[in-house]
Amino acid sequence: MRNAKRLLRSLSGEAIWPPPVWLMRQAGRYLPEYREVRAKAGDFITLCTNPALAAEVTLQPLRRYGFDAAILFSDILMIPWAMGQPLRFAEGEGPLLEPVTDAAAIAALDPGVVAARAAPIMETVARLRAAMDRDFPETALIGFAGSPFTVACYMVNGRGGGDFPAARLMAHRDPALFAKLIAVLEEATVVYLQAQVAAGAEVLMLFDSWAGLLPPDGFEAWVVAPTQRIVARMKALCPDVPVIGFPRLTGAAMPGYAVRTGIQGVGMDTTMDPTWAARAVAPEIAIQGNLDPLALVAGGRALGDGARRILAAVKGRPAIFNLGHGIVPQTPPEHVAELMAVIRSEG
Ligand code: CP3
Repeated sequence: MRNAKRLLRSLSGEAIWPPPVWLMRQAGRYLPEYREVRAKAGDFITLCTNPALAAEVTLQPLRRYGFDAAILFSDILMIPWAMGQPLRFAEGEGPLLEPVTDAAAIAALDPGVVAARAAPIMETVARLRAAMDRDFPETALIGFAGSPFTVACYMVNGRGGGDFPAARLMAHRDPALFAKLIAVLEEATVVYLQAQVAAGAEVLMLFDSWAGLLPPDGFEAWVVAPTQRIVARMKALCPDVPVIGFPRLTGAAMPGYAVRTGIQGVGMDTTMDPTWAARAVAPEIAIQGNLDPLALVAGGRALGDGARRILAAVKGRPAIFNLGHGIVPQTPPEHVAELMAVIRSEG
C-alpha cells in the first residue's frame, strides 16, 4: 500500500513535487501562542514533561502553517536529564548541566532508568499521534534524539555557547573513557527512540549539531560508528521507521556519513550548497534543508530567492524542505507563511 504522507514518501526515495516541508524548531519562541504556554508552564523542563502542554505546543505550528511533519516538543538534553544528570535551562543562557568529567560520574549514568523517567514524553507522543490521526491525518510525526557525540558535548562541558573544549579534550586524552560515555548514550538513545516509536512516532531524527567540530578520525569514531550502530539497532527493532541524520557542518564528509550510517534522509546545514549535495548524496537518500534561518527573519527577496534556489537544486530527487538550522526567536510568524506560499506556488 502506498503511504499517503508526503514526508514518508520522500523518505522512501520518491521525488515528490513540491517537496514536503517542516522547519527545525517550528514550535518555539517566535510564536506568541508558544510564549503563552511557556509562561504558564514556568520552566522549559516542566513544559517538556507535561504531556498536555508539550502536545499543545507541538500542534501550534501545524494549525498555522499546515507543515508536512510535526516534531515532538522535547529536547536532546532530556536523555541526560532522564539519566539523572542535573539540568536546568537558565533564561538567556541556554542549558546548564553539572559536568560529567570522570570515570565515577560516567559509571553512575544508568540507561536503564531512561524509559521510566521519560514516560511523560512518551505520553506526549501518544497524545500527539491520536490528535494528529484525527486532525492532521496527512502529517507525519517525527520523534528525535541528539546523537551521542553532541549530547556528550553538553554533558562533559556542562553548557553550550562555546566549542566544547572539555568534551573534545576527553576524547583525545582518554578515548576509552569517552567511549564509555558514548556507549551509555547509544544504549539510552536506542531505548528512548524505541519508546517513541512504540508510542506513535513515524520518523526518527538524530541531531548531531556539533559533529563538525571533530577531526576526521574523531568523526569516524564518535559520529559515524555510533550512528551506524544506533541505526542498525533501530532497523532491527522497527524496520519501517525511516531515520534522518543531521551531521551539521561536516561538509564533504556528509554524503559518506549518509550512506554508511544507513539513514533514509540527511540534513544539509546552512553552509552546504544544495546543488552539490543533490549530486553527492546517494540518490535514494532524501536531502533535507537548508534555508538560512536569517533569510527567514529578513523575508522578502532573501527568503524568496533563497527558497527558490534550494527548490531548483533538489528538483527531481527525494528531498525535504527545511531550514539549515533552527528557527530563531526573532522570526516574524508571517514570514513562515510567506515561505510556505513560495514553496507551494512551485507545485
Ligand atoms: O520544534 C522543534 O524543533 C522540537 C523541539 C526541539 C527543541 N530543541 C526545543 C527547544 C528540538 C528538536 C531541539 C533540539 C536541540 N536542543 C538541539 C539540536 C538542534 C540544534 O538546535 O542544533 C540542541 C543542540 C539542543 C540543546 C538546547 N536546547 C539549547 C542549546 C537550547 C538553548 C538555546 C535556545 O534556543 O534557547 C535549548 C532550549 C530549547 N530547546 C528551546 C526550545 C523551544 C528554547 C526554550 C525556551 O522556550 O526557553
